[in-house]
Order: sequence, then structure tokens, then C-alpha cells
Amino acid sequence: MDEGTSRIRRRVSVRKRNRPSLEILFAAPTADELKPSDDQKEEEEEEEEMAAGSPRRKAVGVPPAENNDSEEDMFGDYDSFAENSLIAQVDDLEQKYMQLPENRKHDTDLATEDLCSENIRNNQLSITTIGSFTELKTDEHTKKQSGHEDVSIKPGADLLYELPSSQVLYFENLQNSSNEFGNQSTKERDWNSSSHKTINEELPQNSIEQPQQNDEFSSKDRTSSDVNRRKSLKDHLKSAMTVNAKAQIPIFSRTKQLKETHLSEEINVAKKTIESSSDDVGPFYSLPSKVRDLYVQLKGIEKLYEWQHTCLTLNSVQERKNLIYSLPTSGGKTLVAEILMLQELLCRRKDVLMILPYVAIVQEKISGLSNFGIELGFFVEEYAGSKGRFPPIKRREKKSLYIATIEKGHGLVNSLIETGRISSLGLVVVDELHMIAEGSRGAVLEMTLAKILYTSKTTQIIGMSATLNNVGDLQEFLQAEYYTSQFRPVELKEYLKINDAIYEVDSKAENGMTFSRLLNYKYSDALKKMDPDHLVALVTEVIPNNSCLVFCPTKKNCENVAEMICKFLSKDYLKHREKEKQEIIKNLKSICSGNLCPVLKRTIPLGVAYHHSGLTSDERKLLEEAYSTGVLCLLTCTSTLAAGVNLPARRVILRAPYVAKEFLKRSQYKQMIGRAGRAGIDSAGESILILQEKDKQQALELISRPLENCYSHLVQEFTKGIQTLFLSLIGLKIATHLGDIYHFMSGTLFGVQQKILLKEKSLWEITVESLKYLTEKGLLQNDTILTEKGLTQKDSSYKSEEWFQYSFHITKLGRASFKGTIDLAYCDILYRDLQKGLEGLVLESLLHLIYLTTPYDIASQCDPDWMIYFKQFNQLSPAEQNVAALVGVSENYIGKKASGQAIKKTVDKDIVNRLYLSLVLYALLKETSIWSVSEKFNMPRGYIQSLLTAAATFSCCVLHFCEELEEFWVYKALLVELTKKLTYCVKAELIPLMEVTGVLKGRAKQLYNAGYKSLAHLANANPEVLIKTIDHLSRRQAKQIVSSAKMLLNEKAEALQEEVEELLRLPADFPPVEKA
Ligand SMILES: Nc1ncnc2c1ncn2[C@@H]1O[C@H](COP(=O)(O)OP(=O)(O)OP(=O)(O)O)[C@@H](O)[C@H]1O
Ligand SMILES: [Mg+2]
Repeated sequence: MDEGTSRIRRRVSVRKRNRPSLEILFAAPTADELKPSDDQKEEEEEEEEMAAGSPRRKAVGVPPAENNDSEEDMFGDYDSFAENSLIAQVDDLEQKYMQLPENRKHDTDLATEDLCSENIRNNQLSITTIGSFTELKTDEHTKKQSGHEDVSIKPGADLLYELPSSQVLYFENLQNSSNEFGNQSTKERDWNSSSHKTINEELPQNSIEQPQQNDEFSSKDRTSSDVNRRKSLKDHLKSAMTVNAKAQIPIFSRTKQLKETHLSEEINVAKKTIESSSDDVGPFYSLPSKVRDLYVQLKGIEKLYEWQHTCLTLNSVQERKNLIYSLPTSGGKTLVAEILMLQELLCRRKDVLMILPYVAIVQEKISGLSNFGIELGFFVEEYAGSKGRFPPIKRREKKSLYIATIEKGHGLVNSLIETGRISSLGLVVVDELHMIAEGSRGAVLEMTLAKILYTSKTTQIIGMSATLNNVGDLQEFLQAEYYTSQFRPVELKEYLKINDAIYEVDSKAENGMTFSRLLNYKYSDALKKMDPDHLVALVTEVIPNNSCLVFCPTKKNCENVAEMICKFLSKDYLKHREKEKQEIIKNLKSICSGNLCPVLKRTIPLGVAYHHSGLTSDERKLLEEAYSTGVLCLLTCTSTLAAGVNLPARRVILRAPYVAKEFLKRSQYKQMIGRAGRAGIDSAGESILILQEKDKQQALELISRPLENCYSHLVQEFTKGIQTLFLSLIGLKIATHLGDIYHFMSGTLFGVQQKILLKEKSLWEITVESLKYLTEKGLLQNDTILTEKGLTQKDSSYKSEEWFQYSFHITKLGRASFKGTIDLAYCDILYRDLQKGLEGLVLESLLHLIYLTTPYDIASQCDPDWMIYFKQFNQLSPAEQNVAALVGVSENYIGKKASGQAIKKTVDKDIVNRLYLSLVLYALLKETSIWSVSEKFNMPRGYIQSLLTAAATFSCCVLHFCEELEEFWVYKALLVELTKKLTYCVKAELIPLMEVTGVLKGRAKQLYNAGYKSLAHLANANPEVLIKTIDHLSRRQAKQIVSSAKMLLNEKAEALQEEVEELLRLPADFPPVEKA
């Protein structure tokens, strides 16, 4: 914990928060393995793309590199399909409500009511005066206590009636056993009472009370519910919500009440503190001490590291200046960001946006923070994949923590700017800030931050990373202070392996390394041949008792290495946690509809698995969980794992210094080895980079050179960067004059780095040219006066005051492209395709619609298997073949391709490829089994899953595109449905469960089969019961599922409540009644 190296570097920002005046601004594997076969070469290219973060990918036979789970979504913009008109929603609800069987209705109402009242209780925490609050609660407590006791000891029939069948079974067993063993052992009773306690806490107040009611009571209740049912839903909702609002605080134990009173008191004190001064006088960094308790309880964090304390108490942080901080991997950066977010939510009462790089990490964070939200009274909202509303729901009391991927974060910021709500965002946190230098996603991150800086002077920005080098540029861009330290709680030792010698990386040594030891191993001749790099020797030094990750350059290599290692592991490894491993295999089979990958079938019994984007997200999740709990001790993986979910290891082995064919970058190397030795889990960590002689020199440079610089991709990513930015600046009216747009550009990271990045043209020229291009494309229109000489002038370097005033507005096509977040490279093709579709859309099947929403960029990278294409084509019905003919693909062409004949006629390859991918998606929607489609098209299932996600995303984008163009009104209803189908691609009954963060298809099926059929079921579930009734569900996961479900139900209930109120409110602009 040496903080000696810690330093605070404050730069006097070149620019202050307010922009400067324009004048100022103007001034490998084994050698053999690394020689790729044709097949492997292609795989490597994908990996390369993946490493570069490119959204483009090779397909079919050359499956995409992206890990679907960690793949970014392009679900960029407004999910209006989720926001049908309120009236329609209320109508809908009313219909559903009428159809609900009485008991279910009752159940749902109770659950919702309870959560609402909890919600209100939480709201009250921050607004009620302490005295009356305590008083009220004490009364309540005494009144309700007896109800508690009854339920927990012996759940009554009515209670069981409300529970899912598996829980009923469980309680029945419990009851039977307690009857059987009249005198239970103390232990059993203890267990019972602890489970009772959980039930008290988990079950809604009304459900708890229920067992006390006698039949008469219940029938009365039913009669009144009948009456209620006859009322309109609107009335019902209104009265239910009003009752809730006035409801007494639900029963909780006295300690809990006291704690809550205390919490409320502390929040008030903290609020006042924040309002009145910047001194930290709150019990826990201005926050209630409950926050500290939660960290101990939920994360096992007892005390902050010294650097965390220093950082949190920096003057600049207290003054809410923008901040960048950088520490080694595993340094504990997240905690600092979380405390600052909680301060913003609870004390300053503003919303917070946290941007994370991958969908999987967003989901992990949602699960981790939902509990905090429930306990402390704020919403945690997911903006990833197809989830998230634009603009977000306006909350009355509680604040929201939006956790978003880069694209979704951008959409959210756009929607807040558009609705004039950007200042409601108090804080934006960007994790892995170095992503700003990664292709189009980096460009999107940069424009998001630039827009916030430009439009909201009160929104604080905080960025963190372990791999930053040119911090000065980022500081200048974000006008931020900088904090850095070399602290790492668990020492990480870096080693290099050359032949059978191991060297320790040592910056003081002459060539950067010192000899450490010789590898101790006894290899048979066969093993020597199969494992020339001594992987078996290296991994067996740590497994099975400690965990090990082996990073491999390609996906194929991951599988090969896993199999090779398993071939040579002793039989003893089979015995280690044998039963649990069998369970994993069973579970894998069950989530894969009876299928099992043959490689995993061989490796899992030895505690080994591979992990890459060829697996479905369900499979990956299961393997990750098994690895985290130590049942699997070795994962062979690609570089995506380094940036993906948090999977630490005692030893990390880099099988070769390559990602695909590219030599490792320093930042990639750092991220990979950073998985070794995580705080709280390992006491030590080590990394071993395996080197061939030929790579030695380059590797020595790698370990000693500084990290790579972050450079802006805003201009390089032309259609997805600067053009998209300009379109949205004008569309959102952030800047509409040439001068303002130029001014905006000067404030971006690109603007800061223009001297390095611009060689031939100036920033002014680039700005003018991009605007010209957008105008020529019909996406923008320039406003009158200057048209004559203005942008039509050839010399774009010409700059005058007059030019500064030159203004633009967005055309309909421009708005549609911007709202649909369509890559501008494809917006005119999309328009043409949709227009053509209007002339003869085949609606006999979904194929034509699917074709229209198959992503162009993936299609352009696809490489069909012509034999399969031909076979599938022939199986199409005449109507389906008609779709092919309409879009311009003939059977003749595919037949010729399949038989390898030369084709004279020029055919649009992109169309043919696009139809091929449409056939894959079409099969998927018909069969819903990724496995069978994967077999049929000979494509990796992970690829098919990514394709599906991308198609769902694009379908939603096309929908928003159509919404802006009257001529395409007919597509709207069709695309709403198609998007839903593509998004879930499961049986309708699983959809409500899959809405809960972290519940994927396999888990949803298990839960459904166990009787958990709705969100309310999950929100009211007892995690202890869940782990006993659902196979392979850890306590941690069960708790996360329940708290995420609670959070979601809570959000939905509150949203409904708000909508009802909005609906019943007299409009502010209601015309005054004229006096007669
Ligand atoms: N004060 C603390 N005491 C104990 N454990 C801590 C503390 N702070 C953080 N940790 C734990 O350390 C681990 C690593 O922290 P975290 O994920 O924040 O690292 P990081 O700096 O973000 O690393 P990376 O750059 O790899 O993402 C986590 O498991 C976290 O719970
Ligand atoms: Mg981190």
C-alpha cells in the first residue's frame, strides 16, 4: 500500500469551462501455429478486427470476432416502440387487467403496491422530518409485528397460494419436515428463523399479512376486488397509487426502522452539508453511514485504500471539477467513482450517467448496484442492448443512475439535450476512458462528452483508466484535473518465458529482465512434441487449487490449447470437484436444448474450458460463473476476456505476444496481465508471457515502452464520426452556424490534437468540407443568403466573418438518419430499399421484412457458403423465392456459384450476401434454436447470436428512421413487432423474465419451469429458496436476480404512477375559460 509514488498533477487548464473566444481558437503460438492456414488466417483476421474494436466483421466461415455479450450495441436511438401512447398503454393495461384471473390480479396488485409503498417509503426517507418519521414507524412496527412471526414460522395456505409452485413445494417440504421432527435441532430452527427473517424482508407487506386472514376475510377481500375490477383501470390505478402514497410505512424490524431513521437523518445532514459548504463532514464522504455498511455487507470492503481517500478528498473533487484518474489494473478505481455517484444521487439529488464499454459489464454493474438503489432509494436503469428509454422517464422524487454502453449513453445524452433536460445530469462517469481512441466507438464517446461539455456547464465529468499515456490531451479536452498513483493492492509479478528459462521483468536490469528460474518439468517425447511451449508444466504449477487464464491469439487456438492441456493432465484432476463439474455439463446441456459442444464435453471434467465469441452468451455466462467459483480452474481465452467481465486469476499466461497476427500493444498486454492477482481474492498474482527467440527483442521493447497514446477518431471515422456529429449538432440545434460548428470542433479531442492529426488540411477546411458533403447528400440544407458564393465556393480554406454566420438546417432524410442512428454510409441505400419495398412488400412470411432490417455492414463482410445457400434457397416456398427475385437475387446465380461456374453478369454482391444473412435470421425466428441454425448454416453459434443482436438493433434503427418519414408510415407497425421478435427470439412467455438484467434465455427457462413466470414472481422470490429450487444458481446470482427484478418492478410501478398523474393533470396551457 505504498502511496509514496502517488502524485497529484494538476494542470492549469488551457481552457476554462467556458469556451475561449474564436480568435484564440483559430490561432504466437508456436512458430507453426502462428503461420496460419487459410482457415486460421481468416480467424486471425477476425480477432484482429476484434482487437481493433472494429464493428465490422467477417462472416460465415469467417465468423465475427465480437463477443456478442461484450459486443457494443448499435441500438442507438429512440426506442419509441416501447413508448406507445399513454392512452393506448392504459387501455392495454385495462384489457390485461380485466383478463387477469382474480388470484393473479390480486398477487400482482399486492406486489406492486408493496413495492410502490416501499418506493414511497424511500422517498419519504429524504423528505420526512425525523421526529414524525420515527413516531409513525414505531406505531406501525408494534401494530404489524405479530403478522411477521406467523408467516415465517409456518406459511399459511394463502401465502403458498400466491407463490410459484417450486416455492410451494419447498415450503411444503419444510412444513412436513418440521411436523415430522417435532423437536427440531437448534440448528434447523436457526435456519428456519433466518429464512423467516429473509421472507419478512423479501415478501411484500400484504403477502405477509395474508396468512392471518381467515376465509371470511379473504372472501370479503375478493368481493371488494370484484368491485375494484369493475372500476376502470385508471381509477383503480389512481386510487391504488393514492392509497400507496398515503400508506403507512411497511413493517420492518425495529433495528431496521431505527437504521432507516438514522439514514434519513444522515441524508438530510449530508444534503445540507453539500448545499452549505464543500467540507466533508458527512459520516462517510458526505454520505450516510449506511453506504459504508452496504460496502462492508455487499462487497466486503471494510476500509478505503489510502489513495481512494486522498482522491475523494481532493479539493478539485470537492469543488466538482472534472477529473481524470489513472491507476494500475485492480487498483480499486470503481469504488471512488461509485462514491462520487452516490454523492450526486443522494446529496445533490441529480441523475448520473455511467458509461461502460460492453453490454456484459453494464449488466454486471446493474446487478451489483441494484441493491444500493433499493436500500438507498434511487433507480438503477439499464441502457444496453435493446434496453433503455429515450428520453428517460422523468422521475418525481428519486433520482436515476443510468448505466449505459457507449452508444446508448450517446443516445441518452442526445435525448436529454433534445428535451432540454441535460442539466438534470449531475455527473457522467466514463470507465475505461482509453476507449476514446478505439475506432467508431471511440468517436461516439468523444462526441458524447463534447456535447455534454458544450451544452451543460453544471454536469461534472469523471474518467478513469489503467492505461492512459497522453493524459495532457485528454485533460485539455475534458478541462479536467488529473490524479494518478501506482498503487496495486496485490503485487503483480511479470515474467517472460524463453525456452525453459523464466525471467522476471525488471526495469532496473540492463535489458529489462533478470533470470528467475528454470522450468521444472518431466516431459515424455509425445508431450514434448505436442506442447513445445510447456503450457502443461506452467498450468499444473497452479491448478486445480488456484485459477489460471491462458490468453491465446485466435479462437481456434483457444480450443486447441484447452484440448491439448486436457490430454496430458493426470486423471487426478477428474476428482477435483467432480460432482459440480458434472452439474455444469448437465446445465450446459439444458441451456443448449440438449446439445453440448464436444470440446467442452472433453475438457470440463478436468476443470478446463475455452471462452470466446463462438460461444453463446448463455454458455459464456455459465462458464464464467463456474470459473469464478473455482469449479473450473483454467480458461483458455481470447483478448476479449481482458476487457470483458471481471474474471481474475492467480496466474495469467500469454500463449504468444500476438492478438491474431498483430504484435501485442502495450495497453493490451497491460489489460491482459492485469487479470492476475485481484484484491480480496488472491494474495499474489503473476503473469507469464511465452516467447519464441524471434520475438524476444520486440517483447523486451513491449515491456519497457510507455503505453500507447490515445488519439481521436472523430475525423478518421468519417460517416460514423464527424458527419454523424454535424448532423446531430444541427438536428439538435446545438450549433447551426458554421462558426459555432467550427467552435464546437475546436473543443473536441480532435480539436486539441489537430496539430498532430491534421497533415494536409486545416480544421476549418475539414469542417467546411464535411458540411458540404452532408448538404450534397441531401441530409442538410444551407440557409438562403449566402448560397451564391458560400459553400459552393471551391476554396474551402477561405474564412471570413460572413462565413461564420452561414447556417444550416436538417432535412427530413437527415433527421431520419440522425434519429435512427443510421451509419451515413448507408442512409441513401436504406431509403432506396425501403422505397422499393413499398412497391411490392411480400408479407406472406417475415423474410422480406427481415431482409430490410439485415444490417448492411455485416452483410458486406459476409462470405456465404454457396452450397448451403443453394440448398436453403431451394427449400424456400414460391412466395419466399419471390422475395429473392424482388430484391434481385436469382436461383441461377446461386446455382452457378455453388457449382463453381464463372458468372459474366455483374451482380450486386452486397444484396446477395444480405439475403443469405436474412435466411439465417429467418430460420432463427422460425426455429428459435441457435444450435440447429448453426448446424444448418455451418456457422458458429456465437456468430449467429451476434447477428441476431445486430439485426434487432438495426431493426429498431430502421423503425426510428421510418418514423421521421411520412412516406414510410406503413412500416412502423410492422417494424415494432419485428424488433420485438428479433430482440428476444424466445417464446413470448419468457420475455418478462428476460427483461431482468442478467436473466438470459437458459436461466429464464429454468425459472419459468420452476413457476416464476412474471417479473412480480421474481421480485418477490426468496433468494434462499431460489438457490434450492434452481440448478446451478449461486447465492450471489440469486440475490442479484431478485434485487434487479425488484428494481425493475419498482421502476415500472413508479413510471405508471407518474403517467397516471400526468394523464389526470390539467394541462398547463389549458385555454382560460372566457367569462360570458
Ligand atoms: N478499499 C478496498 N478494500 C478492499 N477491496 C477493494 C477496495 N477497493 C476496491 N476493492 C476491490 O478490488 C477489486 C478491484 O477493484 P476495481 O474493479 O475497482 O479495479 P480497477 O481499478 O477498476 O481495475 P481495472 O482497471 O482492472 O478495471 C474489486 O474486487 C474491488 O471490490
Ligand atoms: Mg475497472
